[in-house]
Amino acid sequence: MTDKLTWYGHATLGLETGGYKLLIDPFFSGNPSASTSADKVDADFILVSHGHGDHVGDAVAIAKRTGAMVISNFEIATWFSGQGVEKTHPQHLGGGFRHPFGYLKLTLALHGSALPDGSYGGNPAGFLLTTNEGVKIYMAQDTGLFGDMALIGEEGLALAVLPIGDNFTMGPDDALKAVKLLRPKAVIPIHYNTWDLISQDPTGWASRVEKETDTKVVVLKPGESYSF
Ligand code: NI
Ligand code: MN
Repeated sequence: MTDKLTWYGHATLGLETGGYKLLIDPFFSGNPSASTSADKVDADFILVSHGHGDHVGDAVAIAKRTGAMVISNFEIATWFSGQGVEKTHPQHLGGGFRHPFGYLKLTLALHGSALPDGSYGGNPAGFLLTTNEGVKIYMAQDTGLFGDMALIGEEGLALAVLPIGDNFTMGPDDALKAVKLLRPKAVIPIHYNTWDLISQDPTGWASRVEKETDTKVVVLKPGESYSF
């Protein structure tokens, strides 16, 4: 069975795997690059990488409307419970759990994590998912480059999703280094061109990556999907 990843703009992703619908960092309201709106998306599970507003986004409203379970670090999962979200699952960095959709591990991310109301959001995370069919997907979300990406690369990744926007996360040069450490079959750039501050040329980055590595770069427009 194929998996399908949709980029909704910024760091907002949809992942369909084994009949389950996952939403990652669902930021639609106030997102100038969003391809749809919070009331139009469906989810069984919502993954939140860290507490910043452009990642928590509309997660509370979508979880309440759809009944989706929110998965995040312990501090953020507890915060969602306090917002009236019924189903939450806390994990933490380095810890994995077998959910119905696959084995999900929270990875290191070099970033911040304060929640929109100023609450403590623990440490930021990335996601390493092994689907029920054994396909490995790494969604770095917001992070700077770190050398331990080489350890994540040892997993044998079908797909990596990496920020290239610079300023708040890795920029194009460090994201190219990240591809060299991760060695995924394919990579999708995210977290760019939402605002002028993170304006980048994904096509130029794709040329550099494909010249210097064996990884295929999939540049999506917001709303477009990649099946693999
Ligand atoms: Ni952030
Ligand atoms: Mn962000």
